[in-house]
Amino acid sequence: MQELSLHKLRHSDIDLFEENFQSRAGASEYQWFGFWDTNKLRTRLEQDQFIGSHDGALAVRLGERTIGKVDWFTVNSWGRPNTSACWEIAIGLFAKYRGQGYGTVAQRLLVEYLFTHYPRHRLQATTAAENLAEQRVLEKLGFTREGVIRQSQWRGGAWHDQVIYSLLRHEFSDEM
Ligand SMILES: CC(C)(COP(=O)(O)OP(=O)(O)OC[C@H]1O[C@@H](n2cnc3c(N)ncnc32)[C@H](O)[C@@H]1OP(=O)(O)O)[C@@H](O)C(=O)NCCC(=O)NCCS
Repeated sequence: MQELSLHKLRHSDIDLFEENFQSRAGASEYQWFGFWDTNKLRTRLEQDQFIGSHDGALAVRLGERTIGKVDWFTVNSWGRPNTSACWEIAIGLFAKYRGQGYGTVAQRLLVEYLFTHYPRHRLQATTAAENLAEQRVLEKLGFTREGVIRQSQWRGGAWHDQVIYSLLRHEFSDEM
């Protein structure tokens, strides 16, 4: 496998996201919520290069080629922000790069990055109950399935369940 790595986003990456994620097939049936304003991505890139204190995003590169992105954002659902904040992670690979192991490696790199550079103890991920590939990846990385968030997402004209997973700092091993 060519080497996969994470990098700060650049303008050409935003062009690729526009090209690849603005359709059901491109975003995937589990991540297609209709069109969205991609100008926001350009504005954000100018503001802080997507490296914020509450969230961020990086490009996933295979060699020199961008094949998708990973994101993280703060979740304050479990109590007061100063005592309970955790990171939620997300990923989108361009369609032709799915199913080849890259999603597993990219999320492993993101987990390692977040635990290395931030003191937070808990990472979580939510995904569509139908998204078996993402669930498999999370399980391969050592995430624990915590439960089902019932009918929590409107997508494709219907309400859908999501599943929630978490990984605690001491559970992460870079051999995963
Ligand atoms: C979800 C996603 C990140 C996974 O990355 P990927 O590179 O396609 O996945 P990988 O090839 O690393 O691994 C997929 C695993 O799921 C398994 N899998 C795939 N489809 C499956 C299915 N329908 N049922 C069960 N397992 C499945 C694969 O066999 C593999 O497991 P294995 O290594 O044990 O064989 C990628 O497909 C993607 O970007 N999809 C669109 C966006 C998305 O769904 N994002 C996640 C929600 S935030």
